[in-house]
Amino acid sequence: MTATVEAGPADRLHSVPLRRVVGQVRRAGPLGLLDGLGDRARGQIVRLNLGPFRPFLVTHPDHLQHILRTHAADYPRGAAMWSALGRLTGKGIGGEGAQWHASREILQTAFSAGYLKSMSGQMIDSITGAVDDLAARAGQPIDAGVEMTRVVQRVVDPVFFGSLIPDGEGDRLGEAVATAMGSLLWRMAMPFVPHAVPMPGDRPFKRATRTVNEILRPVLAQARKDQRDGADIVTKLMRGTGADGQPLTDDQICEDIVALFVAGSESSAIALTWIWVSIVQHADVYERVRAEVDAVVGDGPLRREHVRELTYTQMVLREVLRIYSVGWAVPRMATKDDVIDGVEIPAGSTLVITPYLTHRLEEFWPDPLKFDPDRFTREQVRARHPLAYMPFGNGAHQCLGEAFFHQEAALIVAGMLRRFDVALAGPVAPKLSLTLQPREPVELVLTPR
Ligand code: HEM
Repeated sequence: MTATVEAGPADRLHSVPLRRVVGQVRRAGPLGLLDGLGDRARGQIVRLNLGPFRPFLVTHPDHLQHILRTHAADYPRGAAMWSALGRLTGKGIGGEGAQWHASREILQTAFSAGYLKSMSGQMIDSITGAVDDLAARAGQPIDAGVEMTRVVQRVVDPVFFGSLIPDGEGDRLGEAVATAMGSLLWRMAMPFVPHAVPMPGDRPFKRATRTVNEILRPVLAQARKDQRDGADIVTKLMRGTGADGQPLTDDQICEDIVALFVAGSESSAIALTWIWVSIVQHADVYERVRAEVDAVVGDGPLRREHVRELTYTQMVLREVLRIYSVGWAVPRMATKDDVIDGVEIPAGSTLVITPYLTHRLEEFWPDPLKFDPDRFTREQVRARHPLAYMPFGNGAHQCLGEAFFHQEAALIVAGMLRRFDVALAGPVAPKLSLTLQPREPVELVLTPR
């Protein structure tokens, strides 16, 4: 297979020969390749020629504006990479078109500000319980990824499922969804291979989706039997209607739940892990966050109002997601021939929007590798291009869980920092997978304050 990057009109497409691509991947891995492409392109469009698959990499905020906002109808999610993911997440909220729209309408109310407020008590109880449990492990190294996944699942269980998932099954569901996601990597990397041709990952994918069904189907059956009146997501989906005006089927509800898991749980747990890495590695930031937590929360119980009052902590969360853009790639497909900034985009092309590189463009982020939460003062945010920062996407598919994540993350940071001093037990480096995640498990040591 060849892998080159083509030159194009007005030098707006960048060209890297195959040797350099392969060399860079060998030397520095896929993330090194991405960093190298970013340095070379500096916001211009890059076309990767990977034989039958020739995606464009798009990073400049003006180009993102074109794809996600002004010409969004011509750039649906139909990209080849999505069709692999669609085997897991279905055609509802993880898809496109009328069925996506119907699911989005239902879930939008589910994640409204009012809803967030109404379930904040449950969220706080889950977080406080999880932090209490961590106290028993103080002094020993803990795996941040594992522990943050546990906290996130404890938060999500009442919110998504009205606590209908039996003990232990939440963990099993999370693991099965993660396995299914991981086993799609081959199909996503080689989307041109027909599904009839067996590929690595197919078997674990089947096993994992069977497990997901084994866990979710009884939950749905129970929820239908109970005729529940709850505010959880399962109940909302059961009460909502699909594109045909009919109630959603169990298949559709399962797909939306799995899509929410895929979109929300793993990304949140990884982002929370990066938050600890970033805070602990920057002593000045750590001190400021801790001082803010002490001033705002003190010794009393966590409250929802704290989320708004933890202003510096919120700036830190934003800077973490700038540097560590967990959702580093957002694919789209061009349905028509188009021209973006002088570059011809043929119909059928895959475009990979790359927030990771957008967040490193010097034009918008001076000294981009420096960790500096003060980039997110209100004045600085207002002065910046609105699409220069998009860890949660933008346009019609913008993340539904953004406010949920910010509430959850601020409460977790506050809940932990008022109880513990947090230290890192070893070095940490990022790696590029479907998400931007730590290469090795991140070990934290908690010391009671
Ligand atoms: C740090 C955590 C998170 C990150 C980085 C993240 C990132 C993203 C991104 C980049 C998209 C846009 C995808 C696209 O344009 O095709 C997205 C969509 C979405 N996210 Fe998140 N997300 C996070 C947390 C969450 C949470 C906690 C939830 C739910 C509880 C959630 C639910 C969704 C949903 C449902 C969509 C699809 C929206 C649509 O297509 O209409 N996300 N997310």
